[in-house]
Amino acid sequence: MTAAITIQGAAKLFGGRSVIGEVSAEVRDHEFVSVLGPSGCGKSTLLRLIAGLAPLDGGEIRLFDQPVRAPAANVGFVFQTSNLLPWCDVRANLLLGVDLDPGAPRPSEAALAELIATLGLSGFEESFPHELSGGMRHRVAIGQALIRNPRILLMDEPFGALDALTRDRLNMELLRIWQRDRKTVVLVTHSIAEAVLLSDRVIVMSERPSRVIEEVTIDLPRPRDPSRTREDPAFGDYLVRLSGLMGVV
Ligand SMILES: Nc1ncnc2c1ncn2[C@@H]1O[C@H](COP(=O)(O)OP(=O)(O)O)[C@@H](O)[C@H]1O
Ligand SMILES: [Mg+2]
Repeated sequence: MTAAITIQGAAKLFGGRSVIGEVSAEVRDHEFVSVLGPSGCGKSTLLRLIAGLAPLDGGEIRLFDQPVRAPAANVGFVFQTSNLLPWCDVRANLLLGVDLDPGAPRPSEAALAELIATLGLSGFEESFPHELSGGMRHRVAIGQALIRNPRILLMDEPFGALDALTRDRLNMELLRIWQRDRKTVVLVTHSIAEAVLLSDRVIVMSERPSRVIEEVTIDLPRPRDPSRTREDPAFGDYLVRLSGLMGVV
């Protein structure tokens, strides 16, 4: 299968101190991979390196076999906090990235309506961020990344600040969206359960200077849904195994 992301001996220093020691990993096209690791081990930094938002200090990262040298057009990024403009409605917020980049192709009205429907935001096109729930705001943020139809979607703890119920709903939405068009996804999360529920594979990183401790393939049937998948005894086994690797138990 085609490799979407190839990371070979990636290293990153800040102020002369090694943050990412040496990370090597591969993500296949259409694969959903989560990254777990202790706080401060360089997970956000790794995503920024993949997106070409920061330079490497060693090693190489390739997207579809092309070395990353600048912010990559085929990558969508969902940041830790959703940065919606309060004075723009949902539609304008979704189109922000397209409007700000004269080179970006503008989606047709039909494509925009389809994206809004996929995000479960039909009827809210003209609502402003303060009129939306936290979950809806996060879905707009995901839409901002999806609107340019990237081949790779990088998500940095996108649901971190949400309550458990909203998080469950968004996980379900994300599964539905992913199952529909199967983009390559790398999700950084601090939730072991979320990683198991969503992923084909989970990469566990060490304390910094970080390296990959282990990669765990999540062999649970798809399509998944949070309540049914959690009842699968194998789900519990994965939680125990990953908790052990994370030093939680
Ligand atoms: N732009 C930066 N300048 C200096 N230090 C940074 C910068 N970005 C991240 N760091 C440091 O690198 C380490 C890893 O950060 P980060 O990638 O945000 O970790 P994680 O997302 O795993 O919590 C932290 O110690 C952080 O303070
Ligand atoms: Mg982070």
